[in-house]
Amino acid sequence: MKTIAHLWNALPGPDQVKRLVIIFALLLSCWFALRQRLVPKTFGDAGHYRLTAIDSIEAQPVSYLGQSVCVECHDDVSDLKSASYHRDLSCEICHGPGAMHLEDPETYQLRPPKGRGLCTICHAYNPSRPTGFPQIDPMQHNPLEPCNNCHDPHDPTPPSTPEECGACHGEIARTKAISHHAGLNCVYCHETPDEHKHNPRAAIPHKPANRQFCGACHGENANSGREIPRIDLESHGGSNLCWECHYPHYPEAY
Ligand code: HEC
Ligand code: HEC
Ligand code: HEC
Ligand code: HEC
Ligand code: HEC
Ligand code: HEC
Ligand code: HEC
Ligand code: HEC
Repeated sequence: MKTIAHLWNALPGPDQVKRLVIIFALLLSCWFALRQRLVPKTFGDAGHYRLTAIDSIEAQPVSYLGQSVCVECHDDVSDLKSASYHRDLSCEICHGPGAMHLEDPETYQLRPPKGRGLCTICHAYNPSRPTGFPQIDPMQHNPLEPCNNCHDPHDPTPPSTPEECGACHGEIARTKAISHHAGLNCVYCHETPDEHKHNPRAAIPHKPANRQFCGACHGENANSGREIPRIDLESHGGSNLCWECHYPHYPEAY
């Protein structure tokens, strides 16, 4: 003990600096010792790099094949896709890694993805996507139905807009269907230009304008030839328009 204390005092400099130097020396020797054990053998042989990394990466099993391999057996799908808006998407983006499938297509099936989750990864509205990228709001865009029902994933161009009135005015069509007016065609009361079905706001359908329109069937003297309820057109409901009291698409609800 005495000799250690003697040595300590013999060293130059204040005590705290001496302690620091000793701790530093200890850490340094630890670092050298660990370096010998922990740093891989070939590190440094070719710069700041582990040379055997290439071999170990090479030895990993291949799981993705690349589109060119899929095309050999599925040329029908690839022909369709290469002319579509999805031409730049690789098969395995949607179908997952295909290496096992190549070994034995029958046992290792690539399940076609179902539901809405896959497509919305790329197409759900997100302000950070590039302008013009086709986006939809999944809560509004045909909710609850799988995208595949309407869009072919290999050629997703939207199906042409349906032309029946009910495709766009579903609520009204469903209401009318269970009303006393179920038998009346929409176009009987709304003369509709063809353009309206393709570009609705460019051409607006006609709407009945006066009491006489309804009176043509319901007036006491109306010549509608059917057993339908009649009213006195002069007095019934005063001079108000009929649809101020009767919803025309469900007229029994006064
Ligand atoms: C060696 C030929 C071959 C290659 C290459 C190949 N497939 Fe297949 N694939 C098949 C065969 C055969 C079937 C049908 C298996 C069955 O239904 O019994 C199949 C089925 C599928 C199915 C499922 C069809 C269904 O109706 O369930 C998908 C999806 C698929 N392949 C995608 C791919 C993708 C993606 C690739 C590229 C990574 C690929 N295939 C590469 C031969 C191949
Ligand atoms: C945008 C995602 C997507 C891409 C990219 C894609 N698929 Fe598909 N694929 C699907 C979906 C979703 C289905 C399921 C369709 C269904 O059930 O109606 C499917 C179905 C299939 C089927 C089953 C039979 C059929 O024709 O419907 C095969 C085979 C197939 N894909 C192969 C391929 C190949 C090969 C490629 C690349 C050339 C590819 N797919 C690219 C999403 C994709
Ligand atoms: C009931 C059928 C139907 C279903 C289900 C459906 N779509 Fe559509 N989709 C359409 C129709 C019709 C259009 C074109 C008219 C429109 O814009 O509403 C369209 C338009 C689109 C567009 C816009 C294309 C453009 O040029 O702007 C995208 C993107 C789209 N759909 C993606 C999806 C995705 C993703 C799903 C599933 C989450 C889906 N759709 C489900 C019928 C459908
Ligand atoms: C990995 C991202 C990705 C996935 C997943 C994906 N798409 Fe697309 N989709 C794209 C790209 C990229 C385009 C082309 C956009 C362009 O050309 O501006 C596109 C275009 C579209 C279009 C517009 C076609 C047109 O005529 O304007 C529709 C609709 C569409 N995809 C529907 C789908 C459906 C349905 C699915 C699911 C089966 C799906 N997409 C999955 C990336 C994706
Ligand atoms: C492609 C979708 C679509 C189809 C198909 C469609 N409509 Fe419309 N319709 C609309 C839209 C959108 C409006 C709202 C226009 C506005 O508010 O500017 C509208 C408005 C109307 C109006 C109200 C006009 C007004 O002055 O308020 C009537 C009436 C109408 N449609 C009747 C019909 C009838 C009848 C049919 C079938 C023969 C039909 N629509 C088919 C989309 C459609
Ligand atoms: C018996 C005649 C009649 C029939 C049949 C009829 N409508 Fe109407 N519709 C009217 C009248 C009248 C109005 C004007 C109501 C108002 O101004 O308050 C109207 C208004 C509308 C409007 C404007 C929005 C609203 O709800 O007031 C739309 C859209 C519309 N009708 C669509 C349809 C569609 C689609 C059908 C077929 C499913 C249909 N109508 C069948 C008489 C009719
Ligand atoms: C083309 C002839 C026709 C036109 C135009 C017409 N209706 Fe009707 N309406 C009928 C028929 C048919 C019934 C149903 C008879 C039945 O099935 O009981 C009916 C039923 C009704 C009823 C139900 C009566 C009850 O028994 O509860 C009311 C109210 C009514 N219409 C109001 C109107 C109004 C308002 C208009 C104008 C917007 C109108 N109708 C235009 C033919 C017409
Ligand atoms: C001020 C509100 C009001 C107006 C406006 C009005 N109705 Fe009525 N309507 C009623 C009420 C309330 C009843 C049910 C009581 C009754 O039979 O008088 C009724 C009943 C009816 C009935 C059924 C009669 C039966 O015998 O079952 C028909 C049809 C009818 N209205 C058609 C019309 C037509 C067509 C117009 C426009 C010319 C019109 N209404 C305008 C309030 C109104």
